[in-house]
Amino acid sequence: MSLLFANWQYLTNSPFSPVLRAGFCLEVSICPTRLNFFEIYFGSKQAGESHTNIRIIFVLIFEFDYIRVLNYNGYAEKIIMSYFEITGGRKLNGEIEVKGAKNAALKAVAAAVLSREKWTITNLPQIEDINRILEMVEDLGAKVKRSEKKVEIEAKNIKKSRLSDKLAGKLRASIILAGPVLARTGKVSMSYPGGCVIGKRPIDLFLAGFQKMGAKVKWQNDHFSLSVKKLKGAKIFFPKITVTGTEAMMITAVLAEGETVLSNAAMEPEIPALAEFLNKCGARISGAGTPTIKIKGVKKIGGGQMKLISDRIETGTFAILGALCGGKVKIKNCNPDHIRALLVNLEKAGAIFEETKNELIVWGAKKINSVNVMTHEYPGFATDLQPPFTLLMTQAKGTSQIHDPIFDGRLMFTDILNSMGANISINDPHRATVHGPTKLRGRKIASPDLRAGITLLLAGLIAKGKTIIENIYQIDRGYERIEERLQKLGAEIKRVSA
Ligand code: EPZ
Repeated sequence: MSLLFANWQYLTNSPFSPVLRAGFCLEVSICPTRLNFFEIYFGSKQAGESHTNIRIIFVLIFEFDYIRVLNYNGYAEKIIMSYFEITGGRKLNGEIEVKGAKNAALKAVAAAVLSREKWTITNLPQIEDINRILEMVEDLGAKVKRSEKKVEIEAKNIKKSRLSDKLAGKLRASIILAGPVLARTGKVSMSYPGGCVIGKRPIDLFLAGFQKMGAKVKWQNDHFSLSVKKLKGAKIFFPKITVTGTEAMMITAVLAEGETVLSNAAMEPEIPALAEFLNKCGARISGAGTPTIKIKGVKKIGGGQMKLISDRIETGTFAILGALCGGKVKIKNCNPDHIRALLVNLEKAGAIFEETKNELIVWGAKKINSVNVMTHEYPGFATDLQPPFTLLMTQAKGTSQIHDPIFDGRLMFTDILNSMGANISINDPHRATVHGPTKLRGRKIASPDLRAGITLLLAGLIAKGKTIIENIYQIDRGYERIEERLQKLGAEIKRVSA
């Protein structure tokens, strides 16, 4: 049953789902080496609703070298190209540097569209999600000049108010561009944003916020448009804490007339970092990093240079890696304070580490204890670190309860860990019980999403024998040249181009 549930989630939220959305449609979702579902819908689908019409599901077992999917523009895409080949069991030692934060970079690139002047963003990670958002702003008419760890964006002229469907379908964070484009041009339209397959990803809180600021919303199938004469400051209460929702409203309010107050706002470190830079460019934001953010609208925003903070999720992932596979792993260029909730639990689990202001040294844990964790918005235990922590718990003695209330599809990858020898039962979409310790064995698997993907990679590093991980685009979305960085620690991992 849990397998059925898991695959159902893959299907309805699959990265391929934007492929054919409206009207009479056929949607295909394929996951190599797993049960595969073909789903056929008859009838029409209204925007923002789930498919409610007659549904026929065929369950087939297939293996694919790659999949080609045709999207509505007739554009064919090879979804699975390269794979990682890992031989597990090596002890890792040495230094690994954390890159700039993906989720800070995405929002900074979008915020650059607020300004007619040049924004230079440094410490930029070289990852697929950043490539996609830069393609989007370029497509809108901004000049984008990229060098290794830096990008210059000059959005003097915004030529379009329609965001690329092809790119929006790949990136949840594409919705963050809606506000700046609306503020600059008075209108914006886009298709429903795609992104990680981790559960429902509604956008109701974004739309409600834009409406509060005076925008009119129109839906047509899975495509929506917003228009406004002049954005007005508003009091916006988030009934649910939303990271990108908070950032979207904060950015949009910068050019609105009057004051905006955001209540029950998210407090993730990327938010005050962005607010601080926006203020340097002339914005008037106070309270970012607390649940109440006040933004006094200004007429224009200037340019400048912003250095991105380090990626706290990468930091946490490497800390878990150190506990699982060290040796002694020194994590450089990080902020241990940003992963305090993880460190507290790693300590309970028996991991040994030392920290300074911007470094963390982790030694392999001799004995891992079982720990129960519940994810929570920042400063709580990050949902993005739940998958690798769950993997750590497969090596712990006893049972651990994992509770991830934030997304309803974040435990799906446990099926794949089970296929490698783990013993994890799914109690409901938000709760799992891990029975440990279990020995993992290498096998051929596919990465379903970014954080599950890196977890499977870590699993491959501790598994006996060889692991092949396909669909590694998902890992490349958030981790820069991960195999090269792990090789330097002594890992036996290589990227193979199919
Ligand atoms: C951000 O997603 C991150 N992505 C996610 O990281 C992260 O898992 C998540 O925050 C939680 O920390 C980016 O910053 C690009 P939310 P976001 O809005 O902002 C519900 C990664 O791997 N909600 O805070 O999209 C939503 O369903 C990614 O790097 C609504 O109900 O997450 C969820 O239950 C994966 N309506 C909760 O809020 C809305 O309109 C929190 O989601 C918006 C959200």
